[in-house]
Amino acid sequence: MGALDGKVAVVTGAGRGIGRGHALLLASEGARVMVNDLGGEWDGTGADTRHAQQVVDEVTKAGGEAAANYDDVADWEGAQRLVNQAIETWGDLNILVNNAGILRDRMSFNMSEEDWDSVIRVHLKGHFAPSRFAAVYWRERSKAGDEVYGRIVNTSSESGLCGNAGQANYAAAKAGIASLTIVLARELEKYGVTVNAIAPRARTRMTEGTFEGFGASGEGGFDEMHPDNIAPLIGFLASPAATDVSGQVFVLWGGQINRMGGWHTEATIDKGDRWTVEELAAKKADLFGPDGGKIPAMSF
Ligand SMILES: NC(=O)c1ccc[n+]([C@@H]2O[C@H](COP(=O)([O-])OP(=O)(O)OC[C@H]3O[C@@H](n4cnc5c(N)ncnc54)[C@H](O)[C@@H]3O)[C@@H](O)[C@H]2O)c1
Repeated sequence: MGALDGKVAVVTGAGRGIGRGHALLLASEGARVMVNDLGGEWDGTGADTRHAQQVVDEVTKAGGEAAANYDDVADWEGAQRLVNQAIETWGDLNILVNNAGILRDRMSFNMSEEDWDSVIRVHLKGHFAPSRFAAVYWRERSKAGDEVYGRIVNTSSESGLCGNAGQANYAAAKAGIASLTIVLARELEKYGVTVNAIAPRARTRMTEGTFEGFGASGEGGFDEMHPDNIAPLIGFLASPAATDVSGQVFVLWGGQINRMGGWHTEATIDKGDRWTVEELAAKKADLFGPDGGKIPAMSF
C-alpha cells in the first residue's frame, strides 16, 4: 500500500534533477505518473525526448506506471495537451507538480530582452498554464457533483523569496510563483484542491554551475544536497494526510524543512492624517529603527 495508490500525477520537467526524484517517489507511492520534459539545455535552448523516456523506463523497471510527455509547459496548447494526456491515459488527474525551469543569470544592466522573456515565460507561464487547465478540469468535476481530489505543488526559489542579485528574471518569476500559489490556493479551495509551493536546494545541473558548495556529495554520510531529498515533502503534500495544508511555501534541503511566513508588517507609523515629507523624515527612526532602512541581508 502506498500513500498515493490509484492517484494520477503530472510532474513537469521530470526528466532530470529534482523533478526526476518527484516522479520516482510519486510512482513508488502508487501514483501513475505523466513524466513531462522538453529536454532542452539549462538555458532553455533545444529539446530532447530521451530524458522523459528514461525516467518512464526507470519507473516501469521499479514496478510503477508512467508515460512520457514532451510538451513545452509554457506553451498554452502544450500545457493543455499535457493535462489532457494524463486524463485520457488514466481517466483522472489528482496531482500536478510544476517543476520545469531554466536559468539565464545576468545582472540587470547586462540582461537582454530575450533573457528576461524566456525565464519569465518558462517559470511563470509554465506554472500558470498547466495549473489553469488542471483547475478547469477539477472545477468541472466538482460542478458535476463528483468529489475532487486535487493537489498542485509549485516550485519557487529562495532567490525569489530573498531577491538574489544577478537573477532579476528568475527571482521575479519565482516570487510570482509564490504569490500565484496563494491565489490558486484561495481560488481552488472550494473545489477540493490544495496548492502549495516549495523552494528547494539541491545539486543539479542548474546549481552546479552557479553555487560551488552544492557540488560536493559528501563522503559516505548523508548527501544533503542530493536532489532526491526534496521528493518526500511532495509525496506528503500530495497525500490524504495533507488535505488541510494549502497556501504554504516551504524552503527545504537535506533533512531540513522550513515553513515560511509571507510578507508581514515590521513597523507601523500612523498620523491619522496625510504626512508631509518633513514629518516622515523626522519619524524615520520609528519606521526603520536605529540601523536605518538598508536592504536586508540575504537569509540563506
Ligand atoms: N536545484 C536547486 O537548488 C533549485 C533551487 C531553487 C529552485 N529550483 C527549481 O527547481 C526546479 C527544478 O530544477 P533542477 O535544479 O532540477 O533543474 P534541471 O535543469 O536539472 O531540471 C529542470 C528540467 O526542466 C525541464 N524543462 C525546462 N524547460 C521546460 C519546458 N518549457 N517544458 C518542459 N520541461 C522543461 C528541463 O529539460 C529539465 O529536465 C526548477 O523550477 C528550479 O528553478 C532548483
